[in-house]
Amino acid sequence: MTQTQATKDSIQKTCIAPVNIAVIKYWGKRDTELILPTNSSLSVTLDTADLHTRTTVHVSPEFDGDKFWLNGVEEALNKRMKTVLNEARSRRRELENSAPRESSVHGKPISEWSVHIASMNNFPTAAGLASSASGLACLASTLAYVYGLIDEKNEMAIQRSWTSVSQLARIGSGSACRSIFGGFVEWVMGGSSDGSDSMAVQVAPKAHWPEMRALILVANDEKKEVSSTSGMQTTVETSTLFKHRLREVVDTRTEEIKDAIKNKDFAKFAEITMLDSNQFHSVCLDTYPPIFYLNATSKLIIRFVHLFNEALGRIALCYTFDAGPNAVLYFIEKDFELVSGTIACMLEEVPGIDSPQVKKIFSGDIPVQSNEIADSMRGKMRKIPPGGVKRIISTRVGDGPQLVSESLLDQSGYPILK
Ligand code: PMV
Repeated sequence: MTQTQATKDSIQKTCIAPVNIAVIKYWGKRDTELILPTNSSLSVTLDTADLHTRTTVHVSPEFDGDKFWLNGVEEALNKRMKTVLNEARSRRRELENSAPRESSVHGKPISEWSVHIASMNNFPTAAGLASSASGLACLASTLAYVYGLIDEKNEMAIQRSWTSVSQLARIGSGSACRSIFGGFVEWVMGGSSDGSDSMAVQVAPKAHWPEMRALILVANDEKKEVSSTSGMQTTVETSTLFKHRLREVVDTRTEEIKDAIKNKDFAKFAEITMLDSNQFHSVCLDTYPPIFYLNATSKLIIRFVHLFNEALGRIALCYTFDAGPNAVLYFIEKDFELVSGTIACMLEEVPGIDSPQVKKIFSGDIPVQSNEIADSMRGKMRKIPPGGVKRIISTRVGDGPQLVSESLLDQSGYPILK
């Protein structure tokens, strides 16, 4: 199968897009329609080999309405998807207006054809991971390919196109704009009221710091009580600590972490990441009524990381938590065995593990130094009880969205049943 399934009366493309996890958190909108944030944020893009959304978009003049299938089940297109689709169509229309004769097939311009969309995550949607970021980034990228919005003339034009795709993703879900690039990505908040300068920018590609690894400790796979959309607006309206964060903290931190990334200074990167996660959750607690995303397991993981670094005498590990209790731990490749070995010693029960490399360590291949560090931590914290961590996902820094050949729709635009 080729990457593009196109007949004279249909176009089909498939992309995969990554999850990203912020180290400087986005929390708060200054414009809820255009999704313009109250501060810039910065994230690490995770490897699509471990976590991704796959989306196929098929447009045809034969279809008699837009349709959407999530994990093979037909659903109505939600509001966020409709926003992205409408904007992508209007960008397509602009292209058609500038070259009217080329763009019309069957008398009807492509922007007017109905669309069939199928999407699938390779991780459970309910796992509390940022499925909206990878989902909407994937939709925006695939639509951009289908509608010819990626200008491939030269490097500069390609770069501009992807910046514009990040803005397309942003209007679906804020954090999705950062999933448009690989490596280390800043969402520059911008200042204009039309959102024209609020976009994702790559700070460094994956190749700059490929040793960056992540372990995701899934502490809960239930739906969160307070969605990020409503939670962040209550924060904007009520928290005074949030105002302090915007005025005094976040800009300096963003500059500092960019320097840490450029210099590959893990200790600095880790310290800022933990401080920012802690401030984000403090701001949630300062919201009225307060919002609690961390649970008892999250707190044990926080204690674990600090004791681990103390025992080691250097900062080799850091945590960050989004709007939920799952921990994302960042560390450097060379510490992989040490980190996973010590985690294995601190869990009372072996959770679900996808990675063979992590599994090996959990099944008893524990490095001596991990045992020593775990011994020195005993008595200072209790082990994480059974069921606390349900699953461990091992991953690393990765690339942005990619066109792929394995499609979710057949040549006539209907789901391929597996
Ligand atoms: O883009 P949303 O609405 O899913 O908000 C994401 C907010 C956090 O995950 C908590 C922080 C972030 O920057 O990703």
